[in-house]
Amino acid sequence: MPAPHADAFVFFGATGDLAYRKIFPALQALIASGRFDMPIIGVARRDGSTEQLRARARESVEKNGGLNPDAFARLCARLRYVSGDYHDAAAFERLRQALGSAEKPLYYLAIPPGEFDRVARGLAASGCVKGARVVVEKPFGRDLSSARGLNRTLRLAFPESAIFRIDHYLGKEAVLNLLYFRFANSFLEPIWNRHYIERLQIVLCESSGVEGRGRFYEEVGAIRDVIQNHLFQVVALLAMDAPADSEPEALRDEKMRVFRAMRPLTPGDVVKGQFRGYRGEDGVAPDSSVETFGAVRLYIDNWRWAGVPFYLRAGKKLPLSATEVFVELKRPPQRVFDEVDPGQPNHFHFHLSPKVCISLGVRAKFPGEPMLGREVELLACPVSGEQMSEYERLLLDALRGDPSLFARQDSVEAAWRVVDPILGDAVQVHEYEPGTWGPAEADRLFGGRGGWHDPRDEVFHALDQGDAEP
Ligand code: BG6
Repeated sequence: MPAPHADAFVFFGATGDLAYRKIFPALQALIASGRFDMPIIGVARRDGSTEQLRARARESVEKNGGLNPDAFARLCARLRYVSGDYHDAAAFERLRQALGSAEKPLYYLAIPPGEFDRVARGLAASGCVKGARVVVEKPFGRDLSSARGLNRTLRLAFPESAIFRIDHYLGKEAVLNLLYFRFANSFLEPIWNRHYIERLQIVLCESSGVEGRGRFYEEVGAIRDVIQNHLFQVVALLAMDAPADSEPEALRDEKMRVFRAMRPLTPGDVVKGQFRGYRGEDGVAPDSSVETFGAVRLYIDNWRWAGVPFYLRAGKKLPLSATEVFVELKRPPQRVFDEVDPGQPNHFHFHLSPKVCISLGVRAKFPGEPMLGREVELLACPVSGEQMSEYERLLLDALRGDPSLFARQDSVEAAWRVVDPILGDAVQVHEYEPGTWGPAEADRLFGGRGGWHDPRDEVFHALDQGDAEP
């Protein structure tokens, strides 16, 4: 039986950064597409009026994607502001009144995790949690023990089935296409294992720095900010077995099996870096040892992936911004053709952002008498169509009560178990120059066998490009 649709949308932290950058634009888009029609209540501690919140919403959509006058007018008509301290029972009483006859509200906690406790208790005490769901943002804790503590807090007011943990990577079209591409085609499965795959690389590089978020970043660092969640979710989609059916838990169960099989990292599997200048950022300690770069060699100890390394790399102030997956296949077992340079091994290249495309790198014969080849790339690029932003998709799923694309607590805990041993000072942090690929030490993870794929390298030629002698 499908879950009931929510009948009111309440977001805490209504005057904050997340609401400004993501929530208002997603609401406007959902309203424009006719998928959203319910009261919207913004809650924040700051004194203010509904008029002021509307003004902020207008600025938000103007800055983040553009104003749609008709949809925005409908958003404003539904929007109400409730202000009050989260310690104050009166604030929750005002919220209860604003909810009116709503019976299945969706609460979005766009607030720091340190405030979850007050809000969960306040909602429970004021009788606002019956039939409700809650959405929380990553990071889900700072390590295994705090993740469990955070969960205990949420469970004061909500059952696990009502808790929706957002990892926005799971709402990205290109990331969802990884799942689709793997299980909607039959040619991949026979080779998608340790027999044919040499190694996988998953890279999230950003040319920007911490962009005024120094205080937040000091609490997390690259491993907690993007590797333990975004990149691990991508690993899970790449490594999982096919779900038994299309029920949400079938997908989450298979991902969980991957998290459980991940080998806990040791300091030897990890290289951390910090860009020169980070310590001068606002909110950053002058002697900070927080990493702005992380490189990880990860193993999944199961039947499919035993012995295949997954290399993960993420960092700020790198030469460019790109997210991609590069899967290197093993070389053919024998050299049949007498070529001086047998070229690169075959590969699958999933460009997730900013370019979105899947390519398969292969060798093909160069025209002419000798049996000489060159590398070509077979491309599958998306047709343009109506795109949903990740927040639009995930908000809609949460409103509908579909948890498929949300992180489940057991997976979150399993992922912390993998990174816990290398958090904090367990691994030395090397300084790197802004605009480089991070500390040179990251290369040692390959043990002299290959190295990081450079997203700038187009080693293979598209098939239709003009041919030149190899
Ligand atoms: C966020 C991190 O979760 O993801 C940021 O907090 C990071 O530090 C961002 O920049 C990357 O997401 P995207 O969608 O821009 O690749």
